[in-house]
Amino acid sequence: MRIEPFKMERMQSRYENYVDCNLSESGVHPMRVSELLEGDDRRRLFEAELGYSQSNGTEELRGRIAAFYDGAGVENVLVTNGGSEANFAAFWALLEPGDRVAYMLPNYLQTWGLARAFADRTDAFRLVRRRDGGAERWALDVAGLERAVGKRTRIILVTNPNNPTGAVLNEAEMDAVVRAARRVGATIVADEIYRGAEVAGSTTPTFWGRYDRVLITSGLSKAFGLPGLRIGWVVGPPKVVESLWSRRDYTTIAPGVLSDRLARVALEPARREAIFSRTRGIIRANLPVVEQWIRRRGNLLDHVPPQAGAIVFVAYHAGVRSSALAERLRVEHSVLICPGDQFGLDRYIRIGFGSDPEALRRGLQRLEPILDGLKPLRRAAAGPPAGRSRGRSPSRPAAARRPPG
Ligand SMILES: Cc1ncc(COP(=O)(O)O)c(C=O)c1O
Repeated sequence: MRIEPFKMERMQSRYENYVDCNLSESGVHPMRVSELLEGDDRRRLFEAELGYSQSNGTEELRGRIAAFYDGAGVENVLVTNGGSEANFAAFWALLEPGDRVAYMLPNYLQTWGLARAFADRTDAFRLVRRRDGGAERWALDVAGLERAVGKRTRIILVTNPNNPTGAVLNEAEMDAVVRAARRVGATIVADEIYRGAEVAGSTTPTFWGRYDRVLITSGLSKAFGLPGLRIGWVVGPPKVVESLWSRRDYTTIAPGVLSDRLARVALEPARREAIFSRTRGIIRANLPVVEQWIRRRGNLLDHVPPQAGAIVFVAYHAGVRSSALAERLRVEHSVLICPGDQFGLDRYIRIGFGSDPEALRRGLQRLEPILDGLKPLRRAAAGPPAGRSRGRSPSRPAAARRPPG
């Protein structure tokens, strides 16, 4: 099996702790252990034995995760090390050579790499910028989705709320995904790790309960602001969950015992909602700072306001590739952002705005010398059309992504 480098994660792993300003992070400023634990809980943590924890997650933790999904029980839940292990286990268990994966772009491309390693092809469908009424939003290209789903499609992968755009699918779009999956008997893998981090309104609806072949992958790293716990999960039909669990016997075996314990605290329903309020508070305070900064550069930059997540996907109208731009920003000004081509859409950058406002302002200032020095191009329509391809790079236009032969 050949696995390609996961470029975005490689870049972050290598540089995020070595730059002065890190705007590459997609979560909010993390919580401290002391914010999570009070009174007796603190004492109990210190007394915990550091043995192996229950391998699929303690029953109490699985129960608390299940409570976040109407109708789910402990038998529907597998606890993993981070959302990334949840995605890995799902793709490893479900895919066989010859299968195809219909894949939402732009996206966090972990599962793109996994699909290309475990299956035969990835068939892209896109979120596209569209004006519905007055406001512009990232809308699902339903015709593109229909084209991407064929009889060999084993998985339809959606990230909702989406990374990097912060878009949330509406009910009609969720129905379209379910319809396409049902047509061919595919499994929907819905990465919902940003659910709970909404800018406004209520918690994003889940795909859970809309169709019998749904696997939800998620975790505590984004909407909960607890990435250091490395707790993720899969919610799915018991048989599938069981088969994913047996795969984990070969990877990390069990979640850390302290992480399982702290996760139980974070997922107690009232606590969970309080943590979401903290996250939403940070997002609501910081989004105007970054949006004002974007608007001041209206001849070069524009964006569709995110509906969820501490991330904004910013289009720039200049003739430089986004990974080259990101590299210059890092090398010359020690500021890290994520280039759009690492999400499958070039001429965009993703700015994470979940840190404290002062750090955010400092980081934005560091972007200015290079961005303000770019020569603005005439405005073009955003985003290449949907394509169907094994595609070496998901950010290339469809015509350049024909499969070999
Ligand atoms: C959509 C999505 N899924 C999964 C992950 C990985 O999550 P974790 O850090 O919990 O492994 C990320 C991280 O950025 C993400 O954006």
